[in-house]
Amino acid sequence: MPKVFIKTYGCQMNERDSEQVATMFIDGGYTMTDREHEADVILINTCSVREKAELKALGKMGLLTRRPEAKPHVVYGFMGCMAQSKGDELFRALPRLDLVIGTQKYHHIFRYVDDILRKRLERRMDDLSLSLAGSSVCDTDEETGSQNAIRDHLAQTGHSSAFVSIMQGCEMRCSYCIVPSTRGAERSRPMQDIIDEVESLVRQGIKEVTLLGQIVNRYGKDEPAVDGKSAFVRLLEQLNGIDGLERIRFTSPHPIGFREDLVNAYRYLSKLCSHIHFPMQSGSDRILKLMRRPYKNEKYISLCESMREARPDLAITTDIIVGFPGETEEDYLETKRAVERIGFDNAFIFQYSPRKDTPAAAMDGQLPQSVKEARNQDLLATVNAIAIEKNAALVGTEQLILVEGPSKTNADRLSGRTPQNKPVIIEGGSELIGKIVPVRITESTGFTLYGEIAPC
Ligand code: SAH
Ligand code: SF4
Ligand code: F3S
Repeated sequence: MPKVFIKTYGCQMNERDSEQVATMFIDGGYTMTDREHEADVILINTCSVREKAELKALGKMGLLTRRPEAKPHVVYGFMGCMAQSKGDELFRALPRLDLVIGTQKYHHIFRYVDDILRKRLERRMDDLSLSLAGSSVCDTDEETGSQNAIRDHLAQTGHSSAFVSIMQGCEMRCSYCIVPSTRGAERSRPMQDIIDEVESLVRQGIKEVTLLGQIVNRYGKDEPAVDGKSAFVRLLEQLNGIDGLERIRFTSPHPIGFREDLVNAYRYLSKLCSHIHFPMQSGSDRILKLMRRPYKNEKYISLCESMREARPDLAITTDIIVGFPGETEEDYLETKRAVERIGFDNAFIFQYSPRKDTPAAAMDGQLPQSVKEARNQDLLATVNAIAIEKNAALVGTEQLILVEGPSKTNADRLSGRTPQNKPVIIEGGSELIGKIVPVRITESTGFTLYGEIAPC
């Protein structure tokens, strides 16, 4: 049975897409391996959102294709956002590469790979040099309906949580972002397909789903509202009604189209978790405008306040870009003040990275690396101080945690998450995995919480 190794960079959507590709190989009689040296097929699912992400994937493929001990029949492929963005120029950088597959073509990867591998293995006995010639494939075309192909899950025993892709693409064209060109136009899946997928996951023991989309709250944006409720809120309501499903999360929402109906959902949807990852990007209206983000900072803050009013224990995390072209010290300080005012539970801080064919890459006022680095470090200190304070405030409280499995740092302990998405380490046996248990938080070491099972 041929073995496939998939390395995934980038966001949760990429993780989900890799899972879909893995299911297709398993259905085709292959097995998955996490040991690259024993693989017959090596696929790297790539991200282009920042230059660093691209360099990591290119470096990894360079190392893998140049291993002297690699078997000559091994098939190497890039898929995902960098594959979409760079296309066949990747073959010039990496002559041993066989496949470059874009973001609307995942469901064809198995067929392409299997075809190349079979031919190579058949020819191997005759002429090895022949086997490598003329077999490369580059497929980065658009494909209608491709969003509906991300729907199968690996049967993973002991897993309690799953990602569900509900829409693909983005039409916002934020001036710094490559995603609209790598992921294409916004396309939503039919609601019934998503409900069927979640019901099937629940039958397999899944308790928590995270709905994925580049702007997840724009799901079904062309459908008319029903009783003042968007398609996204109606989908949340449907999922909330599924017996056996305990927790619903989604990522990432955008202030555009974030209306009262979604804020209200936090009042009456009991399975909707008390956490939202809500990218702010900047606290300066001047920079938001240059970024082509269609909101002002006050609007963003008022949305956070309304959500907290609807769900008082809501944890809010965010994405922030520092060092955008033309960002002055005062613009940066406005971001820092917004961070302090909102009090995020955590934040990802990114240094602006110029991306191919995006308007911001050609803007005046590109900032030196040293300024980006200094703002990143300064903001990180602020974010961390608030995060640590928020975690410390949880000591002594009781939280329901969904136990995910053995802790990564100590396999004798278990790790789980609160509805606020905070990781908690507890003592306990493997019978607790996949269960939701009440836990008293006993200690916080900054970013990690420790707890013990609360007596009934
Ligand atoms: N669709 C989501 C974000 C997806 S990209 C949204 O709009 O909210 C994930 C994050 O990467 C973004 O939120 C942004 O903070 C960051 N990002 C995107 N392009 C970037 C760039 N060119 N440089 C640095 N960070 C970037
Ligand atoms: Fe990129 Fe903006 Fe679309 Fe998010 S909304 S994926 S940041 S273009
Ligand atoms: Fe990266 Fe593509 Fe996700 S660029 S962040 S992998 S949508």
